[in-house]
Amino acid sequence: MGGPRAPRIDPGKRRTFQRRLLAWYRVHGRDLPWRNTTDPYEILVSEVMLQQTQVERVIPKYHEFLEKYPTVEHLADADVADVRKTWYPLGYNIRPVRLHGIARESVARYGGTIPQDEEDLLSMKGIGRYTAGAVRSFAFGLDAPILDTNVARVLHRVFLAKGDPKRSTVRNTLWTLSAALIPPGKGYDFNQALMDFGATVCSAKRPACPACTMRTICKAYPAQRPDVSKKPKARAGR
Ligand code: ADE
Repeated sequence: MGGPRAPRIDPGKRRTFQRRLLAWYRVHGRDLPWRNTTDPYEILVSEVMLQQTQVERVIPKYHEFLEKYPTVEHLADADVADVRKTWYPLGYNIRPVRLHGIARESVARYGGTIPQDEEDLLSMKGIGRYTAGAVRSFAFGLDAPILDTNVARVLHRVFLAKGDPKRSTVRNTLWTLSAALIPPGKGYDFNQALMDFGATVCSAKRPACPACTMRTICKAYPAQRPDVSKKPKARAGR
């Protein structure tokens, strides 16, 4: 893989983060339809839909799409124009065409199964590093890292709190962190939890810091920032 050196993570902080995130998820995790299936094809469909569309808008389309194309073979046999039409309310874009191509390739090269090997997944048009990690962890239970905007924001705030997460060097560091933090054997729950935590607690515009379970270990929380917390208080009335 290469890239910048892995950031040193304090083992105590790593354990605390893992423990708190999984405990939070047990109580607050969302019940989403793609979490009630183990079928890799269904999970792939959900992840391609979720690449650019919000959860609430994806849910009805996910059901409709799978009713129409219940297996990878059904999708591979379909006319691509029909697939586009079914997809259309999610936006006029390339994703249904890519998904159709992935279904065809899965039938032609992998006997109608979705591959779990990272290289095989990445070789398919429409599957990038994020979707490969999502499919590997959510469909196959592997401890594979994921990094989308939400996950990047959580890890950046808690562990780095400096640099721009959109820059490729910082992004590489975040990928390394995402991999290093997965508790062995728990890639599925840990990654789903990261998603929900980023979407609901550690949101971009209104993070719920005062009630956040990560408050005491979060680098971006004001009390943890030496430059902020050690500033002398403004003196009133003098
Ligand atoms: N966004 C992308 N993948 C997701 C998932 N599995 N759960 C919730 N939001 C997501």
